Amino acid sequence: MPAAGRLDRYYTPFLIPPRVGHPFASRYARELCQEGDRDLDVVPQLLTKDADEFVWAAGLLAEMGYAEVNLNVGYPSGTVTGKGRGAGLLRDLPALEALLQDVCERSPLPVSVKTRIGFASDDEFDEILALYCRLPLAELIVHPRVREDYYRGAVRREAYGEALARAPFPVAYNGDIFSAGDFASLVAAFPQTRHVMLGRGLVGNPALARMIGGGPAASMPELERFHDELYGAYEAEMGGNAVFRMKEWWSYAKGLFANPRAIERAMRKARKAAEYEAVASKVFRCEGLASPRR
Ligand SMILES: Cc1cc2nc3c(=O)[nH]c(=O)nc-3n(C[C@H](O)[C@H](O)[C@H](O)COP(=O)(O)O)c2cc1C
Repeated sequence: MPAAGRLDRYYTPFLIPPRVGHPFASRYARELCQEGDRDLDVVPQLLTKDADEFVWAAGLLAEMGYAEVNLNVGYPSGTVTGKGRGAGLLRDLPALEALLQDVCERSPLPVSVKTRIGFASDDEFDEILALYCRLPLAELIVHPRVREDYYRGAVRREAYGEALARAPFPVAYNGDIFSAGDFASLVAAFPQTRHVMLGRGLVGNPALARMIGGGPAASMPELERFHDELYGAYEAEMGGNAVFRMKEWWSYAKGLFANPRAIERAMRKARKAAEYEAVASKVFRCEGLASPRR
């Protein structure tokens, strides 16, 4: 990301591989459909600790035309880590190394990893990074938090710097890039930065990549168009009431408005689709945008 302010790659939300011999679950059909913007390189991400299932899924993805597969070593939820998946892989480093060695050998696609820097403490990263450096990874994306942080607490950018300095493969940064200023300060601190993954910042601000490229913030009509498209797509996907999903979007997007508290209050009451649509339309007509965060 992003030459001239556009995104060049999209990592899917994690997919749970099917059992060997079976196709991907039908709920992933939309995520894995190859239509749409093919200028965007799409990298499917898998959540698993099972090498055979990873390799089988990578084979299916290769047949679909994908060029890389990513392993999730970061998802913090207890239901997942308890089963040794996601960030749970960081609790047993010999098992993680054996898994990665095996899948790097047998996967028909290059394997990249998205990782946190530890399970409970930053001190774990030295050993974790050494492990990754012994493997032929296509790329390592570092979200410099530990599992216990979930999505809060300060990112430890120095851990990303350490990975940049030591890894024999490309390293990408992820975490708390909410503005062009955040991006600029990362690049100033780590000028070797080539790849940055945007998460919540981009969800809440569809113009973030453009702003990073020096372009303007989203105007109110642009935001409303984005909102309408997202709402329509969620409704189509869910076959009905997408209000709950949209409220989550507003929890990220409210920061673009001059009075985020007013947005929170207005959204809190909306339950049914018609109520929600009225509230959203009023927000776009009556609320002002904050001056863009630089
Ligand atoms: C609702 C939500 C869903 C997420 N799903 C995934 C996922 O499927 N795979 C993944 O690697 N990270 C996932 N993440 C984590 C983000 O990719 C990212 O690592 C984290 O939010 C920090 O980056 P950010 O500050 O840019 O959001 C998710 C985060 C949130 C808030």
